[in-house]
Amino acid sequence: MNTLLITLAAYLIGSISFAVVVTRLLGMADPRTYGSKNPGATNVLRSGNKAAAALTLLGDALKGLVPVWWVQQYGMDYGIGDNGVALVALAVFIGHLWPVFFRFVGGKGVATALGVLIGLNGWLGLATLVTWLVIAYAFRYSSLAALVAAVFAPFYYGLLFGTDIKLLAVLVMSGLLVYRHRKNIANLIAGKESRIGSKKK
Ligand code: G3P
Repeated sequence: MNTLLITLAAYLIGSISFAVVVTRLLGMADPRTYGSKNPGATNVLRSGNKAAAALTLLGDALKGLVPVWWVQQYGMDYGIGDNGVALVALAVFIGHLWPVFFRFVGGKGVATALGVLIGLNGWLGLATLVTWLVIAYAFRYSSLAALVAAVFAPFYYGLLFGTDIKLLAVLVMSGLLVYRHRKNIANLIAGKESRIGSKKK
């Protein structure tokens, strides 16, 4: 029962799109109407407002981090073990991708996945973040950096902790993240993907 409730709560938290919330609060255009039309930090950055993009990144990452960290720290007090942690990790991520508050049309999950990984383990999150930064710095494509980081994250988890139920959650999360980037993958192959810092069209 507790596992079901916390999983539902995680899904609802994940359903809060900070790209929409932040841009609305700042009186900016809705990111679902320009650029890639994705409600995420990369697309908010295309508005030219770096602070709004940073706040989106922070909000979407924290909504992944806090529930996972909390359930991992205190879940056992409520009889919630590793299975529950894995469910919460997936639920918060799925909430971002298919949010109940936005007709199930959500984002691609990069910031939220990073938050989830940090919540699972700081070193896991750091390794994944560094991977993203290296690829983003080298190629200037946010999507490519996310795709490479998503492929590496399960390996980092396996190296740090071996195989367990939470690795399965990380694998599913990475798979969904790659799936949500299929348009970006097509654009990258076609040489049409916009680089970090390019403005909205
Ligand atoms: O954070 C999502 C990023 O990987 C791609 O975003 O807007 O370029 O599709 P976007």
